Amino acid sequence: MRNSDIAVSIKNLTKFYGDLKALDNVNFEVKRGDFFAFLGPNGAGKTTTINILTGLSNYNAGEVRVFGYNTTIEYQQTRRLLGLCAQEFNFDPFLTIHQLLVYQAGYFGITPGSASKRADELLARFQLTEKRNCKHRALSGGMKKRLLLCRALIHDPEVLILDEPTAGCDLELKYLIWDYLAQLNNEGKTIFLTTHNMEEAEKLCKTIGIINQGRIVRIGEKRAVLQDKSLEDVFLEVTGGE
Ligand SMILES: Nc1ncnc2c1ncn2[C@@H]1O[C@H](COP(=O)(O)OP(=O)(O)OP(=O)(O)O)[C@@H](O)[C@H]1O
Ligand SMILES: [Mg+2]
Repeated sequence: MRNSDIAVSIKNLTKFYGDLKALDNVNFEVKRGDFFAFLGPNGAGKTTTINILTGLSNYNAGEVRVFGYNTTIEYQQTRRLLGLCAQEFNFDPFLTIHQLLVYQAGYFGITPGSASKRADELLARFQLTEKRNCKHRALSGGMKKRLLLCRALIHDPEVLILDEPTAGCDLELKYLIWDYLAQLNNEGKTIFLTTHNMEEAEKLCKTIGIINQGRIVRIGEKRAVLQDKSLEDVFLEVTGGE
């Protein structure tokens, strides 16, 4: 990798949707191996940032890099390095869940044989083996969430981007996901997570970034950010979102 210290670098990023300035000169970095929680109220700009980072959305100004690779110019490298668990479900309705994991792996040049094996391992890890040959329609909401995680992990990405991964999950599933994310981070993966669940952020992450109305309000080590009284207004909104 070109730059092994900084996993995600966002510089002077501005994004408009029509007249709405969704991101206003956003600047921050996520270090390799960090567990970064990106917090902020509904509509703050979290998903917009993630969509730009993962190449799903364009932007008006600024520069985004993943391990030094520019996400616009060197998107083939950056997409291989990132795994996205999106906020909303977007699965191919015609494929079984095993097939859709194998197809996803194909985008990254993984052969069908190894993709199939890895898909089965991930399905087992997230207790979905029983549903292996079902289409995603036949899954419950929590199971679909787990499938999103399997798909994000299929090509063993260096950076895992998780947009509210445990929203709508029951307690058991939430703890299963938390344990797995902590394990991945211990193994050296960089994790970038958004959540409205403060317990999740407090328990898992090392660094917290707060965004409000498209502007970064604060970035820092978890404890320092959580003790910052000036953020109470934003936090009240954040915790109110759950
Ligand atoms: N495709 C779009 N077209 C127009 N406006 C959009 C679009 N996507 C997002 N927005 C607007 O951009 C702003 C930021 O939205 P975004 O989805 O990034 O928020 P968020 O921080 O992820 O919120 P939430 O916590 O609700 O998921 C909001 O005002 C939203 O209405
Ligand atoms: Mg969002």
